[in-house]
Amino acid sequence: MAKYYVTTPIYYPNDIPHIGHAYTTVIADVLARWHKKLGDDVFFLTGLDEHGKKIQEAAEAKGMKPREFVDKLVPEFKNAWKLLNLNYDHFVRTTDKDHELVVKEVLKLCNKKGDIYKGFYEGLYCTGCEAYYTEKELEEGNCPIHKKPVKTLKEESYFFRLSKYQNKLLEFYDKNKEFISPGYRKPEIINRVKEGLNDISISRTSFKWGVDLPFDKNHVTYVWFDALTNYISGIGYPKAKFKKYWPADLHLVGKDIFFFHAVLWPAMLMSAGIKNPKKVFAHGWWTIDGQKMSKSLGNVVNIPELVKYGTDSARYFLVREVPFGADGDFSMKLLVQRHNKELLNDLGNFVNRSMALLNKYSNGKIPKKGKDELCKLFNFNATKKFIDILETHNALSEIFKFVNECNKYVNEKQPWNEEDEKILSNILYNLAEALRYLSIILEPFIPETAGKIAKQMNLKDKLSFKELKFGKLKEGHKIGKTEILFMKIEEEEKMAKKEEIANVEMVKGKDWIEFGDWEKMKLRTGTIKKVQQHPNADNLYVIIVDLGYEERQLVAGLKKFYAIDELMNKKVIVFTNLKPAVIRGIESEGMILAAEDAKSCTVGLLTVDKKELKDGAVIR
Ligand code: ME8
Ligand code: MG
Repeated sequence: MAKYYVTTPIYYPNDIPHIGHAYTTVIADVLARWHKKLGDDVFFLTGLDEHGKKIQEAAEAKGMKPREFVDKLVPEFKNAWKLLNLNYDHFVRTTDKDHELVVKEVLKLCNKKGDIYKGFYEGLYCTGCEAYYTEKELEEGNCPIHKKPVKTLKEESYFFRLSKYQNKLLEFYDKNKEFISPGYRKPEIINRVKEGLNDISISRTSFKWGVDLPFDKNHVTYVWFDALTNYISGIGYPKAKFKKYWPADLHLVGKDIFFFHAVLWPAMLMSAGIKNPKKVFAHGWWTIDGQKMSKSLGNVVNIPELVKYGTDSARYFLVREVPFGADGDFSMKLLVQRHNKELLNDLGNFVNRSMALLNKYSNGKIPKKGKDELCKLFNFNATKKFIDILETHNALSEIFKFVNECNKYVNEKQPWNEEDEKILSNILYNLAEALRYLSIILEPFIPETAGKIAKQMNLKDKLSFKELKFGKLKEGHKIGKTEILFMKIEEEEKMAKKEEIANVEMVKGKDWIEFGDWEKMKLRTGTIKKVQQHPNADNLYVIIVDLGYEERQLVAGLKKFYAIDELMNKKVIVFTNLKPAVIRGIESEGMILAAEDAKSCTVGLLTVDKKELKDGAVIR
């Protein structure tokens, strides 16, 4: 029996998990499930990276102790992984005692090898922050937080002789052509190693939240040295389980942390005298609607949001949308489109039709074994090959090629018009076998759906790939109850679209237009929050309007027509993408709409007649 050991990065629990973390973990889950079906002895490891300054500071910001802080976030990750139906074998935490022991053990091994030495870490230091800064981070030479000059300081630190491993690493890459994957990312790593490697500081004295160095209690271990060892501590190094599963078959990571995995980690292992993993694969980054995911932009997609149309729709989308390795763009609209088209229209309809046909023309029983006309169209070897080279997107699309063949088969054979009983029975047998095949081959990708198909067919869940042989269904086997697999997302689809348009429009300055460019004009509701006399013009007010998603400062010539009190809290309509103008020294971003009767010299504001209408509502 072959073994298969796959890992994800251990994520920083400084906040709740998002779609980026979900991505790596879903792909690892797909691979783990796939290898189980091949009959491999699989171990799938994920977990959290809980030490270090970043976590300590996140905890402090919440007024919590680091341990208390991370303990609160652990269930967030575990629940998210449950929502995504992820079947990992172990969840490692770097605060686990057995992990800490392994970190110390690896440090001792590297030290024995003579690869660790005491030196000084030199940098620009702010005592107020107890932190080093780079030139770039400073503001006019000052600490960006305390606004005071930084000092050049030397902190005692232990170093790992990474430089010593330059040639050994290059030899290793050369002998193990698959180690750096995908291949197109090789130059970026190899060139960096060729340029020369600096020894790296692996200990800190300026904070305590970490693993003590076994040979100097005044130092805690640098968080990356600590974190990387999870891949061996998580399988119980150096005990039996480690012996069975190590070396890892695959470390999946994002391209942000490729260097640590493809350079530092193998050097650490060489130093400690432990075998290197077989492969590190770095995938690309997800953006959201074309923008970087970030908290300040407010576009981070959390897991409950991701799975709101169903776990399998989310898993399907993540695997299928982007070639594995490349960057990709996430949008709910695209997820909904794939749900409606590929999952509901293609897969769901085939399953439904086939079940209905079996019920109607064969009394819900499997007919006599027929001749393979359909399942032979599923190319298992091609699918397997795609998985082996980690083109998971292509593996899934190979399966959906088969789904399309299935629909084509029903359309061409038209069993409802077939009068020859023998031919009809053969068609029905083929449909039943196709359903059985689907329940097996879809399981790694969309396990819940695969399970539902198995249940409808009254078959065991989680059958292995060995069962992919035509003719295994027994004549007379009674099928189960039909169940709808996917619901059409209709209203939601429209809503998602609307929301998206609104989101895009909300980017201030994206589409400023000149006065008069009317067809491009965008209008929104807002509430007047503040009114002040313009300092340089008698007839003008400076007004702050709340648009719900931001506040705008506008200059308006309303002084003659409204007192300040009359304007306060009025719901008005704002021309939001009018190019800003400086009006008598004050910037005005947009315009409040008003109607004017030139004859009577009256001006009236356009307002909204529903109090409950939210600020920022779009006027169409
Ligand atoms: O780096 N697109 O943790 P982390 C795709 N603790 N993947 C993304 C992503 C995005 N926008 N954002 C995050 C750490 N990821 C360390 C790892 S391992 C020994 C220590 C995924 O919480 C991707 O896998 O910053 C990336 O490498 C990882 O989350 C970074 O997670
Ligand atoms: Mg990160």
